[in-house]
Amino acid sequence: MSSLVGQHIVLGITAGVAAYKTPALVRALRAASAEIQVVMSTNAKKFVTPTTLQAVSGQPVRDDLWDAKAEASMGHIELARWADQILIAPATANCIAALAQGQAYDLLTTICLATEAQVVVAPAMNQRMYLHAATQQNLSALERLGYQIIDPDHGEQACGEFGPGRLPDPEILIDALTTPTVDPEIASVFAGLSVMVTAGPTREAIDPVRFISNHSSGLQGLSLAEAALNAGAQVTLVAGPGVPACNPAINRVDVISATDMHTAVQNNLHGVHLFIGVAAVADYRVAKPAEQKIKKKPSDQSHLDLRLIENPDIIASVVDSDQELVVIGFAAETHDTLNHARDKRQRKGLHAIVVNDVSDARIGFNSPDNATTFITDNAEVSLPRQSKLAIANNLLQQITDNFGTELAGLKDS
Ligand code: PMT
Repeated sequence: MSSLVGQHIVLGITAGVAAYKTPALVRALRAASAEIQVVMSTNAKKFVTPTTLQAVSGQPVRDDLWDAKAEASMGHIELARWADQILIAPATANCIAALAQGQAYDLLTTICLATEAQVVVAPAMNQRMYLHAATQQNLSALERLGYQIIDPDHGEQACGEFGPGRLPDPEILIDALTTPTVDPEIASVFAGLSVMVTAGPTREAIDPVRFISNHSSGLQGLSLAEAALNAGAQVTLVAGPGVPACNPAINRVDVISATDMHTAVQNNLHGVHLFIGVAAVADYRVAKPAEQKIKKKPSDQSHLDLRLIENPDIIASVVDSDQELVVIGFAAETHDTLNHARDKRQRKGLHAIVVNDVSDARIGFNSPDNATTFITDNAEVSLPRQSKLAIANNLLQQITDNFGTELAGLKDS
């Protein structure tokens, strides 16, 4: 299971009685720190109001393919690209039939046809409609097309009948979103692979109450760790301060300073096949942190000198270890990004480097999105702005394409 932190979820709501349950679903998704965009079918508005959904999602609801104002801020194709996952809950028999036929007759069905994201469909309807051969055939067709179907609950229905067709509770729907399907080629490389990821900032003490650090949130590293776990890897995450909670199946080692991170990496490196250094490690630390809080100087002494010394280069120490493994670094650059990253990859002896331009406030440090270029000896692939989880999944694809054979060899050795 991966977390939903920072994930872009389009929630499609179609015209079933169970639509009245969707405000609670939106609240649960937001509690899981996902970003939600609600898209309603026209008739869904007869069961739950857009005003309620706007209030709980914090975003205006989208319901019209032809709304020029909404399209100008994020067009339907951009929305299809924005989504990490699409959940349709409740999905009516009519919506399921339309999707099975590849129809694009409204905003929701158009987005489903235009997206590369996983689409999860939660049918909810009268039990006879659900069990009808036509609906069952359409659901099978959707599965063949790669849609994920969540079976409805069984029980008493709004119409008074008993049977399958009730919308499952939000926890079940959220579980389905946290176990997305994985491309078989990526899964074949990552299954059983031992992966170590560093994430977040480090803190270098000045005195017992102050430190030097940076703006890294750890989200990009966490997303990579969770994507690798979801693809079948055994993952160790060496996490600096403030990195959000992760899946308990990840072996997480929390650290504070660069020297702590260096020790944790060295202690856990044995048997690792793939190392990905996403952490924003402080290059320098204070030579002698004060043992007591430094007091403000008298007004005639208006400066304070701090002597800084170099921290260990963690990724360079991984490259220099006796162990054979694939090593991938990140580079946070503010200018001449590609040249600096190419140079850094060569200097540090990395198999690949992933560069992000952190002068752009919409991406990189402490933002839900990123945009990167993956640089190897003979290829450079740009990944446009998208969520950090989408970047992580695309990077797994790049790692598979460029180092899949090497990693398979390391796994077998
Ligand atoms: O954490 P987020 O808010 O999600 O933001 C993500 C990010 C911007 C931090 C991430 O995408 C990123 O760019 N990480 C690398 C940041 C960085 O410090 O780059 P660098 O150019 O200083 O370091 C290059 C590489 O060497 C990195 O892989 C780094 O982990 C590693 N390094 C650096 C210094 C050091 N002493 N030891 C290291 O291992």
